[in-house]
Amino acid sequence: MKVYVTRLIPEEGLDMVRRYCDVEVWEGELPLPYEVLLEKARDIDGLLSLLTDRIDAPLMDAAPKLRVISNYAVGYDNIDVTAATQRGIIVGHTPGVLTETVADFTMALLLATARRVVEGERFVKAGKWKTWGPTLLLGRDVHGATLGLVGLGRIGASVARRARGFAMRILYHDIARREDLERELGLIYTDFETLLGESDFVSLHVPLTEDTHHLMSKDQFGLMKPTAILINTSRGPVVDQQALYEALKSGRIASAAMDVTDPEPIAPDDPLLSLDNCLIVPHMASASIATRTKMATMAAENLIAGLRGEIPPHPVNPEALRR
Ligand code: DGY
Repeated sequence: MKVYVTRLIPEEGLDMVRRYCDVEVWEGELPLPYEVLLEKARDIDGLLSLLTDRIDAPLMDAAPKLRVISNYAVGYDNIDVTAATQRGIIVGHTPGVLTETVADFTMALLLATARRVVEGERFVKAGKWKTWGPTLLLGRDVHGATLGLVGLGRIGASVARRARGFAMRILYHDIARREDLERELGLIYTDFETLLGESDFVSLHVPLTEDTHHLMSKDQFGLMKPTAILINTSRGPVVDQQALYEALKSGRIASAAMDVTDPEPIAPDDPLLSLDNCLIVPHMASASIATRTKMATMAAENLIAGLRGEIPPHPVNPEALRR
């Protein structure tokens, strides 16, 4: 069977796939162009894709033998899952494994932003550190502050566990209440508006869907405290970036830390890049050696199971196999 892998992933995963089938890998540093993928798709049985690949209906139509798409990510907003299901193509993803790693990084962004770590580093390297200063680079305390979690899935809950260690008051909003987690972690459920109004830190943990596109826009920033900090480790389009720029520039909110942007990479002339109160890193929240390796083996397991005509261990659309 023939499989196409759209980027070099950790060897552990590639080896598993190579043992099972005939593999071609795109070895470029940048994502392969869509037209190239269309061409490659013609005679493949399986595709191991990344979140940077657009996997849509025309691509699936160009791949008549395709029976499994294994996404090397927990998010799968890059794949038209409905189109895959209609064509009997099973889709797999990598949930769970990156939860703790992303939660660690969310806290890293929260702490770095609150305590101005990156600004401090830039200050020293620019040769500006002349003496200890009573008002030099004052930040905001994390301990005792209120954290608002927008989305209480696996990652949101893991961030809550960490935030408890910092004695934070934790609010959350989600489409469903989690009374078990409220009891276990002392979380407080609120409506979205109350959460925005009361939180010192607002951290986004929702998937990108039609409902969450630009969930954070002008009106929402308008409800936040002027001292509040926004953290986004979910997906770039959950935040209306123009509205964020205006909120940060005008002091409507204090600062933001973004692991994800819209588009990715962020355009070099995006005005957000000119702001000192906006920390932007290149979608690296899951980037630990152990997690990225485990993601590779999970993606390989999903792919191989799909090629065998089985439901992968981590399916997105198990109903596809019934078609
Ligand atoms: C995912 O897996 O969806 C993450 O965004 C990758 O870091």
